[in-house]
Amino acid sequence: MADHAHNLRASFAQGRGLSRSRSAKPVGVITRGTTGFNRLRRCDRWVANHPDIRRALLRSEDPLALDVGYGASFTTTVEWARWLRTVRSDVRVIGLEIDPERVLAPRDGVSFELGGFELAGYSPTLVRAFNVLRQYDVDQVIDAWELVCSRLAPGGFFVEGTCDEIGRRSSWVLLDAFGPRSLTLSWDPFDVERPSDVAERLPKILIHRNVPGEKIHEVLARCDEAWDRAAPWATYGPRVRWREARKMLAAEGLPLAPIRRPVRDNQITLPWEVVAP
Ligand SMILES: C[S@@+](CC[C@H](N)C(=O)[O-])C[C@H]1O[C@@H](n2cnc3c(N)ncnc32)[C@H](O)[C@@H]1O
Repeated sequence: MADHAHNLRASFAQGRGLSRSRSAKPVGVITRGTTGFNRLRRCDRWVANHPDIRRALLRSEDPLALDVGYGASFTTTVEWARWLRTVRSDVRVIGLEIDPERVLAPRDGVSFELGGFELAGYSPTLVRAFNVLRQYDVDQVIDAWELVCSRLAPGGFFVEGTCDEIGRRSSWVLLDAFGPRSLTLSWDPFDVERPSDVAERLPKILIHRNVPGEKIHEVLARCDEAWDRAAPWATYGPRVRWREARKMLAAEGLPLAPIRRPVRDNQITLPWEVVAP
C-alpha cells in the first residue's frame, strides 16, 4: 500500500482532530440544499449490492443508516431507504441536516433530525454524505471523514460522494473505521463521451488532483486509452465498449473490483491506494 494511503488509515485507527470533539452542537456548516429525485440512484444500487455493506447490515443488531446532509427535500433519503430495505426490511433510516429549517416530519418510514458529522450521538452501521463535502474546503475533508468514521458501529461503513444535478456522473469513496477503502466512478453510458469526463464530479479530496503527476490523473488517462482501443465495439453500444475496455485494464494489471452482476451503469471501483493523493 502506498505510504500516504497507509498513514491515513493508521491515523484513522488512532483518531485525531475533530473526532475527539464531543460537542452537542452539529458539526459542519449549512450549504446549498440542492437535491433532486433519483439523483443518487447509481450509488444506491451499488451500496445495496455491495457484499461487505450487505453483510454489515445483515449482521447488525441495530441496523441503522444515516443520510448526512439530505438537503432541501426528503427525496434522496426516502429513495435510499427503499434500496436498503431490499437488503434488510427492518433497517432504520434517519436523515440528518445541519440546517434546522430543513428538518422535516417523518415520512415513508424515514425520520429526519438535526445533526452533522458528529452523527447526533448515533452509532450507525452505514452513513452516507452525498454532495455535502463538495461545498467545503479540501483541507476539511479528512477531519470530517475521521469524525464520521469514529462514530460508526463496529464493522460499519461511510459512503462519501458527489454527482451532477441529475446524477448522470457520480463518484464516491467507501470508508470504514480505518479510513478510505475504495473509489468508485459511475456514469450514464449514453451521456459520457470518455471515462475522464467523470473527473468534473470527483469527490472533494480528489477534484483538484486530476493533473499530471497525480495517481487519479494517471488512472483516468489509462481508462481513456483503453476506451479508445475498445472503439471497435462502439457499434454494440457504450456499455459493451466499456466492458471491453475494463477487460483490457484488468488484463494490464489495474486492480479493478469485480462486477458480479449485470449493471446498467458504466462503472469502475479501485482500491483507494491506487488513486490516493
Ligand atoms: C447539496 S445538498 C445535498 C443533498 C443530497 N444529499 C443530494 O445529494 O441530493 C447539501 C446539504 O448538506 C447539508 N450539510 C452541509 N454540511 C452538513 C453537515 N456537516 N451535516 C449535515 N448536513 C450538512 C447542507 O445544509 C445542505 O442541505
